[in-house]
Amino acid sequence: MREPRLSRRGLLAGGAATAVGALAACAPSGTPTAATAAATAVPASAGTAVEPFHGTHQSGVATSPQTYAAFLGLDLRKGMDKEAIGRLMRLLTDDARRLTEGRPALADVEPELALNPARLTVTFGFGPGLFTAAGVEHLRPKTVAALPAFSIDKLEKQWSDGDLLVQICADDGVTLSHALRMIVKDARAFAKVRWTQRGFRRSPLVQEPGTTQRNLMGQLDGTVNPAPGTADFDRAVWISDGPEWLRGGTTLVLRRIHMDLETWDAADRVAREFSVGRRLDNGAPITGNAEHDEPDFEKLGPAGFPVISEYAHIRRARVQDPGQRIFRRPYNYDEGVTADGKSSSGLLFASYQADIDRQFVPVQRNLAEVDLLNEWTVPIGSAVFAIPPGCAPNGWVGDTLLG
Ligand code: HEM
Repeated sequence: MREPRLSRRGLLAGGAATAVGALAACAPSGTPTAATAAATAVPASAGTAVEPFHGTHQSGVATSPQTYAAFLGLDLRKGMDKEAIGRLMRLLTDDARRLTEGRPALADVEPELALNPARLTVTFGFGPGLFTAAGVEHLRPKTVAALPAFSIDKLEKQWSDGDLLVQICADDGVTLSHALRMIVKDARAFAKVRWTQRGFRRSPLVQEPGTTQRNLMGQLDGTVNPAPGTADFDRAVWISDGPEWLRGGTTLVLRRIHMDLETWDAADRVAREFSVGRRLDNGAPITGNAEHDEPDFEKLGPAGFPVISEYAHIRRARVQDPGQRIFRRPYNYDEGVTADGKSSSGLLFASYQADIDRQFVPVQRNLAEVDLLNEWTVPIGSAVFAIPPGCAPNGWVGDTLLG
């Protein structure tokens, strides 16, 4: 084929159409050209999409997961009492309300960065220390406390605990950074940053919302999960009894789980699928064909052993009673590679449930006891929070406890 000739003059004088046509002629078939790229451009409306801030529940739990997340763990400064924490929560609620609606926060010195909320949600959580500082220890749900020690844990202080959680999620990284910075600035006089943990998932602009995400081990992660909007979800997640102030709220267990991707890479596909009990290509159970097929835990292989191992992750994690299920809303993390090429990646495993002792702890205990996946995964951070209910337009998050 004769190469198309593109002179500088031709490009400048002949206009874009000639140039695009000539470039298109060069492109191997299947390569997107400028013309097709324009046709498939991402809709700019994604930037202005808004998630509601007010309501019975805080947003950011049942919300279809956004692309980026930052979990911010804060420690209250010495001397913070109920009144001071109330002031902090009024201030942070005001920031969150404005930013999620696409309006600058008060005294926002980069107001332009607030104009694209991109489905921003800001969700607050109260750790055990906040109840002590506020003198409302008697209103702390007893399960919002340090988790039992699990044998697999190698917890690091830098990713664990905290008095106040701010979970920020958005479909845009700039929006997220701006919101995070505003919150940190306004919290500074009241609290110190203990940790920030950033995560990401496949964007709803890249694949259909509702598609199960893939984690960095390549697995479809989230197939069996209560679906928001269903009675099972409501029962598993939202608190409807216990202390009055927390009704409509939930709890969060955030576990930072390191993945040893180097040794995972060395395992063959059969071993990888066997460890979970599901196929890597479409997430089907290894006894089935499609992602949502029911796993057949009774099925035996030719040698008389169960096809889905007794030690496979999905068997060990399964609970029968829908009221004991947890809701997983995880994000991947990847903090880059060390000089010798080792990755620092894993999962920000965010588990929401009405009752940590009844739902999260038994599953985690089973997995700590035996789970083939433990060969490649290590929990290195752990924190627990009560997530208060949502607030009214004239209220603030936490007013039912601190108001
Ligand atoms: C890095 C760590 C982990 C990875 C890579 C991982 C991966 C997976 C995968 C691939 C599945 C199958 C697809 C699905 O249903 O989502 C699954 C299922 C599940 N995982 Fe995990 N998981 C991890 C940690 C945990 C932890 C810490 C818990 C709870 C304490 C947990 C609870 C569950 C539950 C409840 C299911 C559904 C089981 C069922 O089929 O009923 N996972 N996980």
